[in-house]
Amino acid sequence: MKRVVVFTGAGVSAESGISTFRDSGGLWEQYKIEDVATPQAWLADFELVLDFYNQRRKQVLLAQPNAAHLSIPLLHEKFEVNVITQNIDDLHERAGSENVLHLHGEIRKSRSTIDPQLIYNIDGWELKKGDRCEKGSQLRPHIVWFGEMVPAMDEAIQITAKADIMIVIGTSLEVYPAANLVSYVPDYCETYLIDPNAKIPAHSSGIRIINDKAGNAVPALVKKLLENE
Ligand code: OAD
Repeated sequence: MKRVVVFTGAGVSAESGISTFRDSGGLWEQYKIEDVATPQAWLADFELVLDFYNQRRKQVLLAQPNAAHLSIPLLHEKFEVNVITQNIDDLHERAGSENVLHLHGEIRKSRSTIDPQLIYNIDGWELKKGDRCEKGSQLRPHIVWFGEMVPAMDEAIQITAKADIMIVIGTSLEVYPAANLVSYVPDYCETYLIDPNAKIPAHSSGIRIINDKAGNAVPALVKKLLENE
């Protein structure tokens, strides 16, 4: 079976009502990255950081998977499928995708501040001051912040290097190392980029650009790939 690797960013969840980061009106117009999404921000004012991610969690809990998320698991009928996402929401999982690798963490989980192996599910929307791990330290959101390592990157590269078809959806490809993933596709891989404002990524020639919203373009591409296989 051929392998399809789906690599997503915030744009795949935009039609579910979850804010993107760099579009006009996006999150990074409303907040400064250095105030809410860095280890320094946590040290300076961890309650502000908790509040920022509590708001993100509320938004995710209200959201439902859209047509793009829902069409991806249909590929399982004829392909091996991996989803690699920069998103912290769980909409791929709720749409039925298996094998979802989160490069930038998961909003519905918390993590110990003294032992990164201690990861917990969060019930509801709120992670509070005083919520502690079993070793007694304050819990933080299970998110990769700017300036932190991306622990899942090596696994993502290994998966991408085996792709026969790569579908990149709704990402500005501005944040590294994630943005570099497309440079690891093998020469024979068919690569698609679905984004209404798609720019040709560096290091990737032959990429097929589909300038459309994920909710239209992903189901159409999935249908075409299934028909042609
Ligand atoms: P961005 O906000 O940088 O880019 C979102 C992309 O989605 C843009 O290229 C939009 O054109 C596109 N888009 C908007 N609506 C769309 C739709 N309906 N269908 C398809 N595409 C659409 O978000 P990311 O590239 O995901 O990291 O950002 C990467 C990382 O930067 C995030 O994971 C996050 C952020 O800061 C961390 O917080 C560590």
